[in-house]
Amino acid sequence: MTLYDAIGRNYSQTRKRDPRIAVNLLEILQSSQGSTIVDIGAGTGSYATFLAEHGYRVIAVEPSSIMREQAIAHPAIQWVDARAENLPLPSSSAGAAIIMLAFHHFQDYSKALEEINRVTGNGQIIVFTYDPSAIADFWLTKYFPSFTEDVRSTFLPISNLVSELEAVTGKTAKITDFPLPYDLSDSFAAVGWGRPEVYLNSKIRNGISSFAKLEATELDRGLSCLKEDLESGVWEREFGYLRKQQQYDVGYRFVYSS
Ligand SMILES: C[S@@+](CC[C@H](N)C(=O)[O-])C[C@H]1O[C@@H](n2cnc3c(N)ncnc32)[C@H](O)[C@@H]1O
Repeated sequence: MTLYDAIGRNYSQTRKRDPRIAVNLLEILQSSQGSTIVDIGAGTGSYATFLAEHGYRVIAVEPSSIMREQAIAHPAIQWVDARAENLPLPSSSAGAAIIMLAFHHFQDYSKALEEINRVTGNGQIIVFTYDPSAIADFWLTKYFPSFTEDVRSTFLPISNLVSELEAVTGKTAKITDFPLPYDLSDSFAAVGWGRPEVYLNSKIRNGISSFAKLEATELDRGLSCLKEDLESGVWEREFGYLRKQQQYDVGYRFVYSS
């Protein structure tokens, strides 16, 4: 059983693709329409579907059956039950790869990148990920302090990811910041940067792996503190300026080769 078999049952309800992330992805993608893109850790296929709707063929690789079962079938998407570290796909069977908030779940980063590079025939690799050096600045860690350690031990530092990507592909990697919009529709960990109330919703929390990993005592304590601070106005006084911003750079990044 994979982590997402345990926590992903309602994933497609809260983790809807965000159109701004999808458009950004399309802008970075250098492959021409009609070519094949491999989506590694495709989840329920929200970004794979976007590419399919824009004229690409997609091989969606996903080890969790609970996630795959929620995918809406599309004739241009082929689903494969596999892990990034061992892809049952011929060399050069895709022209590029996307890895959307999945890289930090891989067990062996280097092996996964070698495999992905083999399958793309040294094509473009695009990773949407989080910069762990930014986590201490995010107000949510005031309520759930162990997020800091969890994120730092889970996400590869951006400079390490760049080095790994460059070593495997032999090409220079680029980094693009992705400030999160206020009304982000893909409810991942920082979705509530300017809307703290969303974290009080258990459905939203259930789609976020960092919350799934929290001890029950820390979760309960953090939620009641947040609720109290929202009711008393403490949150507003400290962080209320965020409600006035349209977007905020919490630390999400596209890291990609050409
Ligand atoms: C946070 S979800 C992201 C899903 C999708 N990319 C999206 O953006 O909606 C991470 C996904 O990575 C998958 N995953 C975990 N370990 C993996 C591995 N070793 N290889 C490929 N996918 C993996 C999980 O099953 C899960 O579906």
